[in-house]
Amino acid sequence: MPDGAGKINNEEKSVEREAGVQGSRWNTVHDGYFGDPAVAQPMVDAICRAMKDCSPTVLADLGGGTGLILHRVLAQAPCNGVRMEDVDISLRQLSQDRDPHIMDLAYSVADVTRANLCPREDDRLMFTLRSLLHYFGHEGSRTLLRHLREQMNPGEAFVHQSACFEDPRGAECLDRIYAMMKSDKWYTTVDEMTVILQEEGWTATKIETAPPIHLTSADLADRYHLSDADVAAIRDDVTSRFGALPGVFDHMEDGFSSWLHYRIFTCVAE
Ligand SMILES: C[S@@+](CC[C@H](N)C(=O)[O-])C[C@H]1O[C@@H](n2cnc3c(N)ncnc32)[C@H](O)[C@@H]1O
Repeated sequence: MPDGAGKINNEEKSVEREAGVQGSRWNTVHDGYFGDPAVAQPMVDAICRAMKDCSPTVLADLGGGTGLILHRVLAQAPCNGVRMEDVDISLRQLSQDRDPHIMDLAYSVADVTRANLCPREDDRLMFTLRSLLHYFGHEGSRTLLRHLREQMNPGEAFVHQSACFEDPRGAECLDRIYAMMKSDKWYTTVDEMTVILQEEGWTATKIETAPPIHLTSADLADRYHLSDADVAAIRDDVTSRFGALPGVFDHMEDGFSSWLHYRIFTCVAE
């Protein structure tokens, strides 16, 4: 049983809405994106580089889900003596088969504190996070980045892979799709994310591309409980607003195809 189960924040409605794809199904959704070691490799490489530079004693993966990222880091980097923690609000995600070296913490990342993660005063903390920030919406993401910065000492590292687009129209298009699905998830641009990080006390030392995730309307209908009429309404609305957006949105006979772009930000607490 993960530690801290009593601290789950029941207001995280978006996680509850996705319950059907969490846990045993998680690694297969969206063409297996979240279970694929090759897709995770650029993020794992960025984490291993930052570990080498910052020598953390505690590595906390925020919204770590079924644990693939930490599992791959353990396979790739010398992690002896590093406390590995998966912080996720969903017990379904945390209840999957786990590496015994990874501790599960069933907390909302909005509430987690350095004291929850670091048993010793002289611990050096590092955060990782893949595909979580957008759950918090526009202002919520900023608030979360500030909260995370407050848990760190200067010079500690934070590597996150977050949804963002080079082209603002890509972000607007995905925002529109999610708004029509009645989701508060938020999509932005690389430039805006860089500014927010800076304003909230993080220096981004490297920004890299990660593989995009392919979101078909059939997958989204399954994940967000959409009817055929909902899918058609989204397809027609987005097509009329944005036209063709190669690599971001395709109109199809029976729905649509979309791609969510990601960047990996290696950051240091100022
Ligand atoms: C898109 S999944 C990514 C999972 C994992 N990082 C990966 O890349 O495979 C987002 C994860 O964040 C978790 N999550 C969402 N809101 C959260 C919150 N407030 N606190 C902790 N975890 C949260 C979800 O349960 C889910 O496991």
